[in-house]
Amino acid sequence: MISHLSEMIERLLYGDDGYYTKHVRIGKRGDFFTAPHASPMFGYTVGRFLDSQGVRTVLEVGGGEGYLALDILRSTPLRVISYERSPKLREVQRKILGDYEREGRWRLVDTLERADAYLLNEVLDAFPSNRYVFEGGRWWEIVQQEDGFGRIPSDGPSHYRGPVREGFIYDEGVGTEEFLREILRMTDRLLIFDYGYDEEEFPLLAPRGTLHGYKEHRVLHGLEALKPKADITHFVNFTHIRRVAEEEGFTVRIYMDQTNFLLKYGMLDVFESLSDEEKEQLAPGMKTLMLLFRNHRVMYLQRSSSSKKSSQKDSDESVDGG
Ligand SMILES: C[S@@+](CC[C@H](N)C(=O)[O-])C[C@H]1O[C@@H](n2cnc3c(N)ncnc32)[C@H](O)[C@@H]1O
Repeated sequence: MISHLSEMIERLLYGDDGYYTKHVRIGKRGDFFTAPHASPMFGYTVGRFLDSQGVRTVLEVGGGEGYLALDILRSTPLRVISYERSPKLREVQRKILGDYEREGRWRLVDTLERADAYLLNEVLDAFPSNRYVFEGGRWWEIVQQEDGFGRIPSDGPSHYRGPVREGFIYDEGVGTEEFLREILRMTDRLLIFDYGYDEEEFPLLAPRGTLHGYKEHRVLHGLEALKPKADITHFVNFTHIRRVAEEEGFTVRIYMDQTNFLLKYGMLDVFESLSDEEKEQLAPGMKTLMLLFRNHRVMYLQRSSSSKKSSQKDSDESVDGG
């Protein structure tokens, strides 16, 4: 029996005893950190940005324990809807956001619905992936066989259109394109934070692939990551996201490093507005936010009648607010 790595990862992450089904722990005492766990300044700044864009209701997909939603609810008048796949994390969200649920500003849903904006922080990287290797002038797929891992001839990745060279390994998210199209049909604005590269960066910055895992803050590289009770992840392809979004009639309004985004859209102003006590409390986390998320980028997509293409990374001149 031969199976794609994505089938194995799907089981390890979302099966009955999967990491996200039963074992997930985010934060200091868990397996990995995300920006909302590093500092509430992340959510305060994201909330301020969404508010400046005229958003009244935001639907967060894969909000994990709910801290980003909490910080948006605390610092803005926005309403938040959460859609979360993991039963364990849904329970945590219900506890953490219960007060806002009673106030009528937060609810958890089972199906996607229309909202002014959609928000995803480190969600697309958590989709299962397949692994392809370019060797001997052709593509192979790494698969799971009865006696371990092997490779079979393949037509190669289905969405990667970037450069290839001998020995290049590409890990491709499975189901991300369909999911992106589904959410883009539910909204006019999508804000994505994740680690990832542009297509042409992959062979240069990650020639041996981006599949990796986290267990108690240790990084597991490549196929080593495919273990029970580990968070298994890969870098997202921002060129692919842009292509799909443009096909759905969206324009890239912002594409830049996460740290630059937070600085440009007012994190320091938010910080200045805090009391001295809050400043003292939040300063270390804000520093972590600036230092720890080096590979993270943000892409802000907005529906446009003319599918006007934005140019490079860092080009966002037509966006108001901040
Ligand atoms: C790396 S965690 C990030 C959690 C949270 N956004 C944060 O920043 O702390 C990935 C999250 O995406 C969720 N997820 C993955 N695939 C999903 C899907 N298809 N629909 C909804 N949530 C999903 C997982 O259950 C998990 O909560």
